[in-house]
Amino acid sequence: MSTEVDTQEAFEKIQAKQHEETAQTWKLRRTLKGSAYTSMETWEAEKERLLYSEWFCVGREEEIADPGDFMVRPVGDETVIIARGKDGGLRSFYNVCAHRGTKLCDDGAGQHAKSGVFKCPYHAWSFDLDGNCVGTPNVHEEEGFDKSTRPLWKVAVDSWEGFVFVNLTEGGPTETLNASFQRNPEGDPHAYSRWNMKDLRVGYRIDYDVAANWKIVIDNYNECLHCPSVHPELVQLVPLFRKGLVETEWGASLIDGATTLTLDGTTTRPALPGLEEHDKNKYLGFLLYPMLMLNMHSDCVMIYRLEPRGPGHTTVVSEYLFPPEVIDAPGFDPSDIVAFWDMVSRQDWEICEREQTGVGSRAYAEGGVYPWNDRWVFEFNRRYRASMGEAEPDPF
Ligand code: FES
Ligand SMILES: [Fe+2]
Repeated sequence: MSTEVDTQEAFEKIQAKQHEETAQTWKLRRTLKGSAYTSMETWEAEKERLLYSEWFCVGREEEIADPGDFMVRPVGDETVIIARGKDGGLRSFYNVCAHRGTKLCDDGAGQHAKSGVFKCPYHAWSFDLDGNCVGTPNVHEEEGFDKSTRPLWKVAVDSWEGFVFVNLTEGGPTETLNASFQRNPEGDPHAYSRWNMKDLRVGYRIDYDVAANWKIVIDNYNECLHCPSVHPELVQLVPLFRKGLVETEWGASLIDGATTLTLDGTTTRPALPGLEEHDKNKYLGFLLYPMLMLNMHSDCVMIYRLEPRGPGHTTVVSEYLFPPEVIDAPGFDPSDIVAFWDMVSRQDWEICEREQTGVGSRAYAEGGVYPWNDRWVFEFNRRYRASMGEAEPDPF
């Protein structure tokens, strides 16, 4: 089917859905208040109710491929260690020494615990890959000290499709990672298993520092009303976006002849194994609540993973995943897709930062409005309010 027919069909389906929803259920919804994007009070509440309570993606399993490998990642104002145990399983701990609280390991990925232990730089206490305290130089048993009572503080850890998630809920998570997927605003991520993301590897990574609240970055991701004005190059390749529409169920067709998001829509990389024919000229975007975004193409999955640093500052980690044999092939060069997405990303961050300056205004204290084309932003907002224990306000 040509893209034009495909796009027209998708457009008609979306229009029909809009008519049905707007006639029956859609009401103009209220956004969060301005202070939700700027205040320390909201940030403090978000850390407790969301960042330290929901399953939170911190990276890829491949960064800690072998026993003894570990990485250190921020979660709100905490940092956690995620390690590969001797049995090949994942472990996670607060990055805090059990002696007198010193930050145990340096930030970063792909480190290896020498001799299989984490050694504190202060008084050289050491902890094994299971978090057991195994060395306390100059502290003696006759002091009444029992090492076994002082392990590292554990954090729950799990993985899905090669992504590592931690959960800092005190006393343990209230639901499994898998169960949490059932409450994802955009549906179950298992619907995208044909991309076989667990078998992909990171071929390129860019970290962006964005002067905007993390929710503004997600809101922006969840709508395409802004695409015609902010992304002139993107709407050349994705006709549906020219109309300001997004559709998560069946993806957005690219123009005829295009197979991926590069400047001319083509690439020499092969299609990912496992994809269906109709996936090969589409782009699909998907948010896994709270802060992992999957951008799926025929040849690559580009992910955004957020590390919120405070009310007005977010690190966006952007990683490009490819099959290992594609990365290892001589002449591997992802610059075609990286150049395109880097341009689109910077367009997004610029407008997000601009929104951040506006939502702090006294004029915006009561917030704004979601029309139907912002419905995915609204669904994220609804799930966010559930995390925060806030009642949903009446529509306008
Ligand atoms: S604080 Fe870590 S060994 Fe003393
Ligand atoms: Fe955008």
